[in-house]
Amino acid sequence: MTDRNRKQQQLLYNADRACKSLFAAIEYIRHGRKTHWEKVYKTKAPDAVSWYLPHLETSLALIERTGASLSSSIIDVGGGESTLADDLVSRGYQNVTVLDISETAVNVSKLRMGEAGDHLQWLVADVLATELEPLAYDVWHDRAVFHFLTTMEPRLAYVQNVARSVKRGGHVIVSTFGPEGPRKCSGLEVMRYDADSLHDQFGARFRLIESSQELHQTPQGATQQFLYCYCRVE
Ligand SMILES: C[S@@+](CC[C@H](N)C(=O)[O-])C[C@H]1O[C@@H](n2cnc3c(N)ncnc32)[C@H](O)[C@@H]1O
Repeated sequence: MTDRNRKQQQLLYNADRACKSLFAAIEYIRHGRKTHWEKVYKTKAPDAVSWYLPHLETSLALIERTGASLSSSIIDVGGGESTLADDLVSRGYQNVTVLDISETAVNVSKLRMGEAGDHLQWLVADVLATELEPLAYDVWHDRAVFHFLTTMEPRLAYVQNVARSVKRGGHVIVSTFGPEGPRKCSGLEVMRYDADSLHDQFGARFRLIESSQELHQTPQGATQQFLYCYCRVE
C-alpha cells in the first residue's frame, strides 16, 4: 500500500469515527431530553409542576387576539399537561394539535379531555427532531419550551420548524422566562429573554406585534417573571 493510500484510509477512518461519535451525542441529547420529561410527568401531579396554571389565560387572550377563525389550525408545542387545549376546544376551535416530547403528559391530557379530545391531533414528538408538515398551522403556541434551548443549534432547528410549518400571515406566540426570570426550570438551565432578544432569535420574517411580561406564582409559592411575544409571519 502506498503512503498516499494509507493516508486516505486513515482520513476515512477518522471521518467515520467522528460521524459515529456525533450521532451518539445527538442520540444522547434526544433520549436524555425525553427521559427527563417522562420522569417529571411520572413523578409529579399536573398541578405540582412549577409552571402549573389552572388556565393559560394570557395565551388564550393572545390566541383570540390573532383573529384566527374557529377552523384555524393551532399547534401547542410542548403543551405538556396544560389545559390550553381544553379551553380552546370549549371556545369552539376545531383544529387543535398538541405536541409534546412526553408520552406520559400527552396521555394525561388525552384522558383528562375524554371525548372532547377525540378530534384533536396528539403528537408525541421532539420538536427539534421532527419535520412538521409545511404550511400546516395558522397559530403556533409555545409556553416555556423555547427557553430550554441554551445553544444555537437547537434554536435554529426550532425556528426552522416554525418557519416551515406556519403559514404566511400566520401567528407565533412564544413565552419564555423574562430578563428577571429564574435561571433554571425543572432543574435545567434556561435562557432569559426580553422582547427584542427573543424576537432576534426568530428574525425579520417574524413581525413583532406585541409583547408583555407577567409574574407567575408557582404552586410552591415562588414568583417567576415570564415574557410573552406575539409575532406575525410575513
Ligand atoms: C415547562 S413545561 C411547559 C408545559 C406547558 N406549555 C405549560 O405551559 O403548562 C415544558 C414542556 O415542554 C416539553 N418539551 C420539552 N422539550 C421538548 C421538545 N424538544 N419537544 C417537544 N416538547 C418538549 C416538556 O415535556 C414539557 O411538557
